[in-house]
Amino acid sequence: MSAPADETGNGEAPGEPRRLLHSYGRRRGRKLKPNQKTLIEGTLPGLSVARPAPGGRFDVPTLFGFAPRAVWLEVGFGGGEHLAHQAANNPDVALIGAEPFVNGMVSALQHIGRLGLANVRLYQGDARDLLPAFGDASIEKLFVLHPDPWPKLRHHKRRIVQKPFLDEAARLLVPGGELRLATDDESYLLWMLERVPAHPAFEWTARTADDWRLYPPDAIETRYAAKARAEGRKPTMLRFRRR
Ligand SMILES: C[S@@+](CC[C@H](N)C(=O)[O-])C[C@H]1O[C@@H](n2cnc3c(N)ncnc32)[C@H](O)[C@@H]1O
Repeated sequence: MSAPADETGNGEAPGEPRRLLHSYGRRRGRKLKPNQKTLIEGTLPGLSVARPAPGGRFDVPTLFGFAPRAVWLEVGFGGGEHLAHQAANNPDVALIGAEPFVNGMVSALQHIGRLGLANVRLYQGDARDLLPAFGDASIEKLFVLHPDPWPKLRHHKRRIVQKPFLDEAARLLVPGGELRLATDDESYLLWMLERVPAHPAFEWTARTADDWRLYPPDAIETRYAAKARAEGRKPTMLRFRRR
């Protein structure tokens, strides 16, 4: 059944098929400078992941030009610093980052260029539109770091960590693979802890408080984590193993 346009808030005309509720805020920030426009118009197309036709699947070696050891996906990479860090430290892994915010895309392209990364591809849009194109058990790590917390009760339905997203993550992750969630929002932390360990596919790997209070050594704190710390909030990282 399609929803009225004002219900989804996604600007659909009445009668159009129902789309997912937006889980992100803005798609555009500051006006792009000429060199930033060049990155978006000149560099991004060569690194872009096109959304396959309905029912289509990615051919990862063709997409990257090499056969990677594993595929990792970061949903909502913001400025791309964590994506670039992981790509630089894992050159045999194919990393795909999805982010609708164009200024974040510019920042990620700058990191990729500065570090000369050949193992990153980008999707400018809602990551959830991309997920059906990945095969079952095709992703080894899935990062969702500081997703928009949508603090108002009436907006909780926009949080990306929802049962359908977890079901899809469970389908995509290899057994023993990892779903990594970070947040600095207490209410979202509780929300995640209520939902993810209750999902039959996921097991929380924390044994001591440091396992979630501290970022693991292979990760770097993102811009939002640093901002939270500066403002007195505590960033936490939850790691779940795909059973
Ligand atoms: C609070 S920011 C955090 C950015 C970054 N992960 C960090 O930790 O600095 C959340 C980001 O997730 C993006 N986002 C939200 N929903 C998304 C979705 N469905 N697909 C891709 N990105 C999404 C937003 O555009 C935003 O840049």
